[in-house]
Amino acid sequence: MRFGYFDDKNREYVITTPKTPYPWINYLGSESFFSLVSHRAGGYCFYRDARLRRLMRYRYNNVPTDVGGRYFYINDGGDVWNPSFAPTKAALDSFECRHGLGYTRITGERKGVRAGLLMLVPPGHTAEVHELRLKNTGPSPKSLKVFSFIEFCLWNAYDDMTNYQRNFSTGEVEVERGGATIYHKTEYRERRDHFAFYSVNADVAGFDTDRETFFGLFNDWSAPDVAAKGASSNSVASGWQPVASHGLDVNLAPGEEKTFVFTLGYVENPRDEKWEKPGVINKTRAHALIEKFSNPEQVAAAMKALADHWSRLLSNYSIESSDEKLNRMVNIWNPYQCMVTFNMSRSASYFETGIGRGMGFRDSNQDLLGFVHLVPERARERIIDIASTQFPDGSAYHQYQPLTKRGNNDVGAGFNDDPLWLIFGVAAYIRETGDYSILDEQVPFDNDPKTKVPLFEHLKRSFNYTLNNLGPHGLPLIGRADWNDCLNLNCFSETPDESFQTTGNRTGRTAESVFIAGMFVGVAPDYAFLAEKLGFADEAKKARGEAAKMTDVILKHGWDGEWFLRAYDFFGKKVGSKENKESQIFIEPQGFCVMAGVGVEGGQAKKALDSVKERLDTKYGIVLNNPPYSEYHVELGEISSYPPGYKENAGIFCHNNPWVIIAETVIGRGDRAFEYWKKIAPAYLEDISEIHRLEPYVYAQMIAGKDAVRHGEAKNSWLTGTAAWNFVAISQYLLGIRPDYDGLRVRPCLGGEIAKFTVTRKCRGAEYRINVKNSGKGGPAKLTVDGKPLAGDLVPYAKPGATVIIDCEA
Ligand code: GLC
Ligand code: GLC
Repeated sequence: MRFGYFDDKNREYVITTPKTPYPWINYLGSESFFSLVSHRAGGYCFYRDARLRRLMRYRYNNVPTDVGGRYFYINDGGDVWNPSFAPTKAALDSFECRHGLGYTRITGERKGVRAGLLMLVPPGHTAEVHELRLKNTGPSPKSLKVFSFIEFCLWNAYDDMTNYQRNFSTGEVEVERGGATIYHKTEYRERRDHFAFYSVNADVAGFDTDRETFFGLFNDWSAPDVAAKGASSNSVASGWQPVASHGLDVNLAPGEEKTFVFTLGYVENPRDEKWEKPGVINKTRAHALIEKFSNPEQVAAAMKALADHWSRLLSNYSIESSDEKLNRMVNIWNPYQCMVTFNMSRSASYFETGIGRGMGFRDSNQDLLGFVHLVPERARERIIDIASTQFPDGSAYHQYQPLTKRGNNDVGAGFNDDPLWLIFGVAAYIRETGDYSILDEQVPFDNDPKTKVPLFEHLKRSFNYTLNNLGPHGLPLIGRADWNDCLNLNCFSETPDESFQTTGNRTGRTAESVFIAGMFVGVAPDYAFLAEKLGFADEAKKARGEAAKMTDVILKHGWDGEWFLRAYDFFGKKVGSKENKESQIFIEPQGFCVMAGVGVEGGQAKKALDSVKERLDTKYGIVLNNPPYSEYHVELGEISSYPPGYKENAGIFCHNNPWVIIAETVIGRGDRAFEYWKKIAPAYLEDISEIHRLEPYVYAQMIAGKDAVRHGEAKNSWLTGTAAWNFVAISQYLLGIRPDYDGLRVRPCLGGEIAKFTVTRKCRGAEYRINVKNSGKGGPAKLTVDGKPLAGDLVPYAKPGATVIIDCEA
């Protein structure tokens, strides 16, 4: 069952009912000011940091889900409704929400009034702009009383939810232009140099800034007193909960339309320019911002700038094929989600509160794989930020804080896969850009400027960290966890409320990870190549030798007969083996070892992938492990804390499905790879939205596995490494267009379903048009470049500005 449709021409998903199975959201903003907007106008916005600079209050775990947002109440002769359906839930004669790239447009119509609400963060500005269009679609004149409404958050979102003894007494506002501009200045008198405002480009009939006055003491969001009365109370908040509401009297003749522009802005003042006079904030910067969005033409210009921005970004990789779902994933939604994960990391979504997790070391490196072709210069910055949190021994803080860029001491280090991801990230950046100078960039350890060394030295320490931390079988020690945060083999937690990852009360050097071993082999060729490039021939040779040794170790101690083992636990017992009662097989080492080429020659790779098919594949994707753990195992950690079928305990963890997809292409089975890809690609799930429940335009981290009560139901949409890895899988391996160090590799492998397609790829300043005739037979493709046959599949990079035509028979 569907709840909307894709409008590919406008690059929008159109939701046609307010009653989706879960709030379906979008993100606004791409620089420093960001918003979350649901299709019922719920959500909030913030400047840079969702915890410390939050403008709007939002309550998680609310009933119903998704209360709080930018709401417009329309009182039409006593009949009160919202174009966004929420919060009054008055029935609408028509409803539509268009989530586009960086904007959302909601249109609701009731009893002869159509209200269109456009929301965007204009590029280059620290504000959310709301354009409200009201049209009289009926035969008689209308006299409407319209009320905007937002609730301010007292900046620090954590404090806002917890510290009521203080908060209820700090709220302060200022009101200007008779209430047309409302300033939120809580804590501005002391250490804050920032304030927010909500302004409208029209004269108002009244305003409110005190929540209790607006709602009345006994009402909820569906029936505010002010909206019911049809008149603002001109309340000025003092403590308690500051809000902003404008009251507008809108008279419309039949057919007439009126447009209002609201700006919800964020302003910072230099310390010595904070005040206009004692107690009155200096509003110069606010006025300038308000001026920029004081009419619909300015909003239209901002929309145009936004559209141009996205056209530019998305033109770096695009496909034309007969499969519209494939096209929309590759051309629009998958890269869009990659940009959102770049901006948000794992901080703010409808599953992440924005007050918790920082930027993950491994997560950020993997996200980079999905956005490096869109914003390479920002990928460079990101790499330096990440590497600056590494420790001198090569280990790394698991997370760092986005505002300070400092490592997070609460979580600390000891996730032994972390260091290797840095090599993945840097290699992807250099393949995309050819910018080897990044390797010479001086980068500190743990942000201590005295310790600066060239970035390459960081890669070296990453690589050697694995070698310096091998266990009894010669496999890498796992530490607190590897990619699978929930496989905590040194944790042994028996106390509720402590974190599985950081408790680690066993410090033995026995628990080993076959997954990290696969990563090590996989990344060694890149590391060796880069070492050689810098003239470190010995280091390159050593790396290749160690990778060969590790390959042997995997095949000797990491092979279970039909698939790769997952790990050895603290006691040296196998994890992910046919000898185990539960969780005999895990997905991660199958994907990563085969991607690294382990066992491809000897046939183990094929066997492992056949075992994945047989034991882990389901109609909704590939589960992480099987059979799931049915009870808590103290020696395995969080993984066994989840009921069977959810999250890391046999959920379909969409992040690692693409590893298997890529692995299938490594052994040439494009048909199966494409089949797997389609199973979890959201556009293909649109028809089962009632089961999947989350947005059909973006990936979710997890879909409940076959052992779960709610098999097929997704959770944690948007902020997941799934976005980047699936983009890598489809763009570089299935469609097969992959930037390499010295040329663009063209090696499609997606089976025979799509007979022909064209990819346009911009890379290093040149444009490549690759026309593929795809028989699906597998094996090497035949290429001609600008009409001349090419031996092999590596198309040398052309000069910036060139257009290269490549014909490919695959
Ligand atoms: C979450 C984490 C990621 C981890 C994964 C598997 O997505 O953000 O770091 O690899 O879970 O546990
Ligand atoms: C929990 C989640 C896992 C996540 C980890 C780190 O363990 O289950 O997915 O990666 O927290 O935040």
